[in-house]
Amino acid sequence: MLKRILLALFICAAALSSHAEDGSRLWLRYDTVTVRPQIEAQVDSPTMRLAVDELSAFWRGGKVSLQLMADGKYLALGRDAYTITSEDGVIRLRSLSETGLLYAAYHLLRLQACGNDCTAPDICEKPLNDIRILNHWDNPDGTIERGYAGRSLWKWDELPATLSPRYKEYARANASVGINGTVLNNVNASPDVLSSENLTKVKALADIFRPYGIKVYLSVNFATPMKLGGLTTADPLDAGVAEWWKQKVREVYSLIPDFGGFLVKANSEGQPGPCDYNRTHAQGANMLASALKPYGGIVMWRAFVYSPTDDDRAKQAYLEFKPLDGQFLDNVIVQVKNGPIDFQPREPYSPLFGAMPHTQLMVEFQVTQEYLGHSNHLAYLAPMWKEFYQYYAPSNMRAAAGVTNIGDDTNWCGNDLAQSNWYAYGRLAWNPMLSSREIAEEWLSQTFTTDSRFVRPMTEILMQSREAVVDYMMPLGLHHIFAWGHHYGPEPWCEIEGARPDWLPSYYHRADRDGIGFDRTTDGSDAVSQYPDSLAAVFNDIGTCPEEFLLWFHHVSWKHEMKSGRTLWDELCHHYQRGVDAARSFRDTWTAMSPYVDAERHAAVLHRFDIQASDAVWWKDACLEYFRTFSRMKYPRGVEKPHFSLKKLKKVNLPIDNYTCPPAEVLPRF
Ligand code: GCU
Repeated sequence: MLKRILLALFICAAALSSHAEDGSRLWLRYDTVTVRPQIEAQVDSPTMRLAVDELSAFWRGGKVSLQLMADGKYLALGRDAYTITSEDGVIRLRSLSETGLLYAAYHLLRLQACGNDCTAPDICEKPLNDIRILNHWDNPDGTIERGYAGRSLWKWDELPATLSPRYKEYARANASVGINGTVLNNVNASPDVLSSENLTKVKALADIFRPYGIKVYLSVNFATPMKLGGLTTADPLDAGVAEWWKQKVREVYSLIPDFGGFLVKANSEGQPGPCDYNRTHAQGANMLASALKPYGGIVMWRAFVYSPTDDDRAKQAYLEFKPLDGQFLDNVIVQVKNGPIDFQPREPYSPLFGAMPHTQLMVEFQVTQEYLGHSNHLAYLAPMWKEFYQYYAPSNMRAAAGVTNIGDDTNWCGNDLAQSNWYAYGRLAWNPMLSSREIAEEWLSQTFTTDSRFVRPMTEILMQSREAVVDYMMPLGLHHIFAWGHHYGPEPWCEIEGARPDWLPSYYHRADRDGIGFDRTTDGSDAVSQYPDSLAAVFNDIGTCPEEFLLWFHHVSWKHEMKSGRTLWDELCHHYQRGVDAARSFRDTWTAMSPYVDAERHAAVLHRFDIQASDAVWWKDACLEYFRTFSRMKYPRGVEKPHFSLKKLKKVNLPIDNYTCPPAEVLPRF
């Protein structure tokens, strides 16, 4: 008897330890079936093989049939669309393409993993965006600009001979949420990306990703013909330059026949571009687009531009790009960040959306939390992206891009909970109408447990998390008050002699004895007039401007009466305190979740929540103590007194660069 018990315990322990609880399995934690299900399919492509293998290994229901369809209905639905129905006791997956069937297989497994009833599905899914792409800001040396999860996944010095198993896992995870493209390298692109040697490495990755329906794209440096090709110019109207690109593109397609195209950051933050030759962005983009066109490739041309001299950085992209509306070729998509400045915790949407009706546009979201506490803080970003879509209908765009938070850390994203943003980005790129809440529930159920005692409170935390970050960092429309050397901690006081004004916090908060905020009304920089008239009128009037954008559009007196009846100063204090309270409550809730989470992930996440709670206090104290030197007002009741003096706070100096998330040891502790 004892022997039997010991054997059972041993088997149990072996089963548990066969799955490392280190976050490496993401949300794909399906249990392998013991009895293989009956799958009916004609397997004559690697993609079909994958779909069948996934179902064979993990599907616990009845017979499934996979069918390629070429009739009118499926032609109209489009390549990636699929249906899932149940007929005569058989679950039928149908699509025009193998990739569609693979997506359908993942859909079925997702339903099962979330504990849904899968007996009578009646599903018709069609992605809203044709292109659902990740942007990696990975450098050739393995660093990741604004990457907080280790080094690059791409091991360039090992490729193409050695292929990490993680390349496949990466592709599988993306396919499971419908992502179908990846830009492998940083927008601040090295010209060497297009060297013949490097292209063989890119090909190796493209070959792995292809069966998962994922196309490879590259960021290119506009001056590559000079730096790599030895030409004396990169002028887009120079025949030699155009020919150089044509030949390079031919080489790319000879290796990667389904190559997606180029992403370009030009004449922005020191990058070369067509404006260096007095040409326009459209002329630059079109030259590249012409080279790609015969192969079906596209150009994603970024609109992230701002010069040091204009009176308001928020106006720049609009001023430079709107006049070019209608001038881009049809295989160019202008890629615009969701807000007019730069991925702040909260920004109004970029007014370029809606201002270029004759140009294809795509939105660029930032999945990596450059400005939201890196991988230390929980900030579930679906609500932020949905907020953007409230102002600009997703159906007006062709594509969505997300700057990833993926690195070579075992758990891929640094913080286990940050995996939710990779997941949510993919799900929303496929269907922006999904609610943040249902995505959160789905992700939590698959990644941890379907137990409602876990899913319910954790969904609440996820749903509150981005607003909490706004509250303790930059409430009421404040923005870009980060430290000079990094985008992690606060430094609203930062002044650097000779620095570009638009790289300094005071440019954005404009705090003085009278009040705080950037006047972008018609009496100020007039950025407000870049919005459609009806909205401009709302933003322009201090009485109607949503309070969440108040200090974005207005310079407001400290004593201004807010909707709550409080003064602006008191309201600001309450927001900071609310953020601190929320961060602490996240930590407490997570602590109580230990019965439902494996010890390894529980401890790792708890450590991050500890940091977040402490950082929230740091942010509150730094901002309020500094702004109080202008308001000269007292902390209202219910708002904690500062833990440290402004003098002490000003001495905090983090030894970090653009590629790392600060570890607890270097952070001030509150
Ligand atoms: C931000 C970010 C840079 C990045 C740039 C971009 O400014 O801090 O690291 O290169 O955006 O989007 O091009």
